[in-house]
Amino acid sequence: MQIRDATAPDRPAIVRIARASFDRVYAYFAVRGLRHAWPFLVAEGESSIVGFLEGILFRGTPSIGYVYFVAVDPQARGMGSGRALVQESLRLFRSRGADRVFAAVPRDNDPSMRLFESLGFERVARRVLWRWYRWRGLSVQMRMLLAPHEVLLARTFTDLPPASPQEGARAS
Ligand SMILES: CC(C)(COP(=O)(O)OP(=O)(O)OC[C@H]1O[C@@H](n2cnc3c(N)ncnc32)[C@H](O)[C@@H]1OP(=O)(O)O)[C@@H](O)C(=O)NCCC(=O)NCCS
Repeated sequence: MQIRDATAPDRPAIVRIARASFDRVYAYFAVRGLRHAWPFLVAEGESSIVGFLEGILFRGTPSIGYVYFVAVDPQARGMGSGRALVQESLRLFRSRGADRVFAAVPRDNDPSMRLFESLGFERVARRVLWRWYRWRGLSVQMRMLLAPHEVLLARTFTDLPPASPQEGARAS
């Protein structure tokens, strides 16, 4: 299995996996988000696409990463594709200067919660977006479309220097 950037011909497989993985509302947003996603990754098996990841990079100082959707074909789960996709997105977000990466997971979605926690994500209150990023945090939260039953998870890159003394004070 290999992780690479998604290309236009991957779209039908991605739509199929989204529909097999999410309920109608989430699948709708996952497909709608494909056009503007970055990073936009696929996991490729021997002969087909087995998973995808859609991210959003909120640019600024510092930038903020958001794993918007990650899904693996039900037939191909439990073989490391989900973890490999999220790991690669973390590397890419970091390479663009993000100091944190967020994900929102339905409270009862055990596989997803464990996947993110195994990669160092921690549950955080929604108000941290405001505390860490002030008004910018609120606009990021609006774009995240957080539903009431979703838990916000954050992975902080502690080894990155703060963008400015002011940001450093906010982050602590
Ligand atoms: C969440 C999802 C992407 C995981 O993909 P995957 O390829 O099966 O995951 P991996 O094989 O890489 O597993 C990585 C870790 O996730 C956790 N995990 C995966 N499947 C799990 C399960 N059924 N139960 C509990 N934990 C699970 C484990 O911690 C696992 O690590 P381990 O194998 O060392 O124990 C997949 O289950 C999926 O597509 N779910 C439906 C869509 C979804 O809910 N997406 C997330 C919200 S956007």
